[in-house]
Amino acid sequence: MAALATGIATAKLILCGEHAVVYGEPAISVPFNQAIVKTDVTEAAETSFSSAFFEGSLDEMPTFLAGIKEITELILKKLGSQSVKIEVMSDVPIGRGLGSSAAVAASIIRGLYAYFEEPLSEKVLLDWVNQSEKIAHGKPSGVDAVTVVTGKPVWFEKNKSLELIHFNQKAHFVVADTGIPSETRSAVFDVGNLLQENPQLYQPMIVKLGNISREIKKYFETDLDVVQVGLLMTEAQGLLEKLTVSDASLEKLILAALKNGAAGAKLTGGGRGGCMISLVKNQENARKVADALQQEGAARVWIFTIGEDNQ
Ligand code: MEV
Repeated sequence: MAALATGIATAKLILCGEHAVVYGEPAISVPFNQAIVKTDVTEAAETSFSSAFFEGSLDEMPTFLAGIKEITELILKKLGSQSVKIEVMSDVPIGRGLGSSAAVAASIIRGLYAYFEEPLSEKVLLDWVNQSEKIAHGKPSGVDAVTVVTGKPVWFEKNKSLELIHFNQKAHFVVADTGIPSETRSAVFDVGNLLQENPQLYQPMIVKLGNISREIKKYFETDLDVVQVGLLMTEAQGLLEKLTVSDASLEKLILAALKNGAAGAKLTGGGRGGCMISLVKNQENARKVADALQQEGAARVWIFTIGEDNQ
């Protein structure tokens, strides 16, 4: 057993395809390495959990951490009966569409396996994270778990084998947090109801969102036309609004980004609060848009580039 073991995981960012991905359409999701979760596992007299969002014993964990609680108990039972202190340090805002629940789960699992000096395959890690996510979110598509576990940009289609995306050029984004917790669970539930009540109206929107992901993928993998991809992102936002998963806090930031030169902007993740993402031409544009989003009251703003180094 290690004296101290650490597990790390990054957040995720859905570029396009959220909600539609629940119904078998593709989504493009990338690791968001500016927001990281780190978990330290050390020996302790009794098993305890420490984080900015909860401090105490596993038994006392609140319902929103039920998934984490269950897999932690199961892993401890499987790997060793020793008590441990699990200390989670996260700069992924919780419930903002950045995959915090999957990232926290992955970092804890990595930390526990490292502490008990057990090898951990990607497959086993993915199974654990999916198990935790099912408890946290009901019926997730699995896109968050796959992105967090692989740490690579993915082209995700439910129940299909995983495809990675290689970005041919750099793409610059500005991401902003509304500061309002995203209501992913109820948003996913309500889209399901709309599809059941009026499939003629809503099903084509889901298909259209899938086609937007397909078009955007081509641009990312060949020649990135920022103007065209931006238009496609803004078109996706219009469809997500019709599916009732946007809200005024997101639309205020999206409008500010577009007014300040972003090529396109949309919500990212579950919506109804949470984060938005905008595509910009270059770093100079990114700074202008980031300033505007800050002035518009964003709780946090990140400038993010894909297509560098490992991506
Ligand atoms: C949440 O990050 C993405 C959604 O599509 C839900 C899911 O895929 O499970 C809204």
